Amino acid sequence: MDWCTTIVSLILGALLAFKIYLRLTIGWCKSQTCLVGKTTIVTGANTGIGFETALDFAKRGARVILACRDQKRADDARKKIIRETGNENVVVKLVDMASFESVRAFAKEINETEDRLDVLVNNAGMLGTGDKKSSDGLPLLMQVNHFSSFLLTNLLIGLLKKSTPSRIVNVSSMAAQYASKFDINTFDKHISDSTNYANSKLCNIFFTKELAKKLRGTGATTYSLHPGVVQTDIFNNARGLKTIVYFVFRLFAKTSEEGAQTTIYCSVAKGIEKFDGEHFSDCRRVEPYATTTPSDLPQKLWQKSQQIVGLKHDEIQF
Ligand SMILES: NC(=O)c1ccc[n+]([C@@H]2O[C@H](COP(=O)([O-])OP(=O)(O)OC[C@H]3O[C@@H](n4cnc5c(N)ncnc54)[C@H](OP(=O)(O)O)[C@@H]3O)[C@@H](O)[C@H]2O)c1
Repeated sequence: MDWCTTIVSLILGALLAFKIYLRLTIGWCKSQTCLVGKTTIVTGANTGIGFETALDFAKRGARVILACRDQKRADDARKKIIRETGNENVVVKLVDMASFESVRAFAKEINETEDRLDVLVNNAGMLGTGDKKSSDGLPLLMQVNHFSSFLLTNLLIGLLKKSTPSRIVNVSSMAAQYASKFDINTFDKHISDSTNYANSKLCNIFFTKELAKKLRGTGATTYSLHPGVVQTDIFNNARGLKTIVYFVFRLFAKTSEEGAQTTIYCSVAKGIEKFDGEHFSDCRRVEPYATTTPSDLPQKLWQKSQQIVGLKHDEIQF
């Protein structure tokens, strides 16, 4: 063997070993929890991690509300879930997380038509939106990834508290660890795609922490999580990186089913209430990122988010 063949063999061997290691360390939700008689909402449920989460809930017998922005994509997902699970209690309700008006209309309909809400999964998210703004004048990414989930959860708190033990699961990301310069005065402005994404995912973690404090003693609990690096549509907008990302993904990323496991775990696993407000990855509690940030930051984020989404006094249900 010449030196060139040796080096190529070593690289391929290392890649293969890394791939095997990744496969072996994926966390799988083994919980057998039955969700018959329970109602669940998954935002962004038509594809990726959200779709697999909704599919799992349907298999467990839940009423599943697919909270999506596009009627056709959502209907296709609904048909697929019903076909695969035989559970007909899967419905589509439209919500555009880029519009507070749409989030309010969605929450109003849920509050008026649903008797209970056992699990809310704030999953909808996006990446690489540049300096695009929402109809409310905020950076599109920040609104979809944080502000709308914050508003939606607040508007559904009454129903969640009525249905205890209930859970709110926030799909964050390890990208939160790159929000090292998170600034409460500028996080609602466009900075750059990567900074805004990292900030939005840190907001998911802070929101979860503060929400847990506010819900303590009610029987409703909340968790944030990193799903892993998952091969989904979210990277379609990742400008410039596409080819590399695609190559790396083909080799190493989780499938959507694998990527949904920690969301499912946080939604249904028994006995995790002691970790209320904490962060998960691969179906295990992990240390949160940004442990050095000031401890009043989650509270400040809550106050600022409340002001930005325009939550009125009579809408606060804590
Ligand atoms: N994939 C990863 O490696 C990874 C890693 C860490 C964290 N995450 C997080 O995981 C979550 C799910 O992402 P994914 O990877 O499954 O991506 P995905 O396949 O692109 O799914 C994202 C979902 O969010 C929906 N969505 C986007 N904008 C919306 C809006 N304005 N209103 C309503 N729904 C909207 C999308 O709907 P459309 O289909 O209509 O666009 C889609 O259903 C995100 O919060 C993401 O940040 C993903």
